[in-house]
Amino acid sequence: MAEWYKNMSFYQIWPRSFMDGSGDGIGDLKGVLEKLDYIQSLGCEGIWFSPLYPSPNADYGYDVADYRDINPEYGTLEEFKTLLDEAHSRGMKVIMDLVVNHTSDEHPWFQASRRREEPYTDYYIWRPARKNGKHPNNWDSLFEGKAWEYDEVRGEYYLHLFAKKQPDLNMENPAVRQEVKGIYRFWLELGVDGFREDVITFISKAEGLPNDLLMPAAKGLRHYSNGPRLHEYLTEFRHVTDEYDCVTIGEAPRMTPEKALRFIGGDDRVLDMFIHFEHMTADCFMADYIRRPFSLRKLKSAMSRWQTGLYGRGWNTLYIENHDHPRVISRYGSEAYRVASGKMLAAMYLLQQGTAFVYQGQELGMTDLDLPSIEDYPDVSTQHNYQRLARVLGKERALRWTKAGTRVSARTPVQWSDAPNAGFCPPGVEPWLRVNPNYPEVNAASQENDPDSLLNFYRSLLRFRKEPVVRYGSFREYSPRSRRLYIYERAYRDEKLLVVCSFTERAVAFPAPYPLADAEKLFGNYPGLTDMMRPYEVRVYRLRADESSAI
Ligand code: GLC
Repeated sequence: MAEWYKNMSFYQIWPRSFMDGSGDGIGDLKGVLEKLDYIQSLGCEGIWFSPLYPSPNADYGYDVADYRDINPEYGTLEEFKTLLDEAHSRGMKVIMDLVVNHTSDEHPWFQASRRREEPYTDYYIWRPARKNGKHPNNWDSLFEGKAWEYDEVRGEYYLHLFAKKQPDLNMENPAVRQEVKGIYRFWLELGVDGFREDVITFISKAEGLPNDLLMPAAKGLRHYSNGPRLHEYLTEFRHVTDEYDCVTIGEAPRMTPEKALRFIGGDDRVLDMFIHFEHMTADCFMADYIRRPFSLRKLKSAMSRWQTGLYGRGWNTLYIENHDHPRVISRYGSEAYRVASGKMLAAMYLLQQGTAFVYQGQELGMTDLDLPSIEDYPDVSTQHNYQRLARVLGKERALRWTKAGTRVSARTPVQWSDAPNAGFCPPGVEPWLRVNPNYPEVNAASQENDPDSLLNFYRSLLRFRKEPVVRYGSFREYSPRSRRLYIYERAYRDEKLLVVCSFTERAVAFPAPYPLADAEKLFGNYPGLTDMMRPYEVRVYRLRADESSAI
């Protein structure tokens, strides 16, 4: 069973917006190849690719039309192999997104299934209408209205937990599980080092697909999240992945540390880690688009609970951004204190225990997009959420909430320089999605050689993560009720780190848990030390046993 992932950090690439190497305004593998050294220079030894598969892009690759090829917009399988070799020769790992809860409706399996062609007839979850012509049950889709769509060809409804163009696979069918195992093998044989498994905790639906209670949204969730046969299916898949030296990371909405241990705990674990969500809802209810004011206490309790809940029993993932959420500075930090709050947030999560993920552009301090109209946000869930909000809040407030919650903000082209199109694609070429207009100020080139840049702060922290105290240290939180400060300590052998993060622009007193006069200030985002914490200040102190009686 692989352990190498415990000591490393991954860089997440959302390929469409990372780097355009071919000059058509769409990111691609050629672009990634150009930037491999950059990723390595960050201190990330692994890459997680969001889907690279051929796809009609109803959900930009999360609607897969062919599991064994590369989207021609991004390149070829040959180019992927070259990239894999190049990464491996640098000692880097590469993991793929495995999207098997659903396929695209344009996948040949679905096309055959709707025509009842064997062996595909039961590859998807088909049901006849109920007697009164109603949907087979009352579940909601998470992206688009109801979870059922009527198919004229087959004369039945199919289940789609996400968009209409993302029909759910019927995992109860052993032939479907066989296909999934084939997909694992295909990529593992090619040399990839593991998988991030898309909404993997949704693959087992409750027997009989029962109606849910009358919830305002997401009806059905309880009947397919961590469903009855999930552990069984994952065990079956584990038998395949166990034959390879690879890592498996499950995306797991609604997961808690207690529930997680059944899957990721101990040597008989069926997955190595979970990407969980609790800490991503400190400014919203359940989904990003239902806003509420940021609560530091919510953030802290979620993060700390996962630290202590898994300590010594299971391995954690650490992330504060990905392709599904707005930019973290715009939500948990402050655009007015962009660099300071970016550094504070970086230290806040990177000094905890777990395998860290950095999402493209996060290390540059990219922020949310502010465009005039809802049409400027090309994303199926954003569009749908806006429509729902507009019915309740009116158009203007709905647009404001949507902008604050949309994942489109994380998907704008990476800002490489102050050249036209932020250096993402050549001048004169229209990038597939608007570049954030702040690129002349926020970009990689301007930060590259600036020792005080956010980019270089990330580099230092990612290097420092190799220290035993980060990898093995125990975790203890101080002042958990504070609404302004997150203070925690990591301790290992004769060494302690004390991490103090201010989440406010106000000057705030810092209640030191013990004397720090002799402690070394290892990281910070302001020069020197003052009595009060400065706006979004972070201080990381190191104490050694012989320097302080506190240990
Ligand atoms: C996951 C992905 C998200 C996608 C959804 C449906 O949550 O991260 O981007 O839209 O699953 O596949």
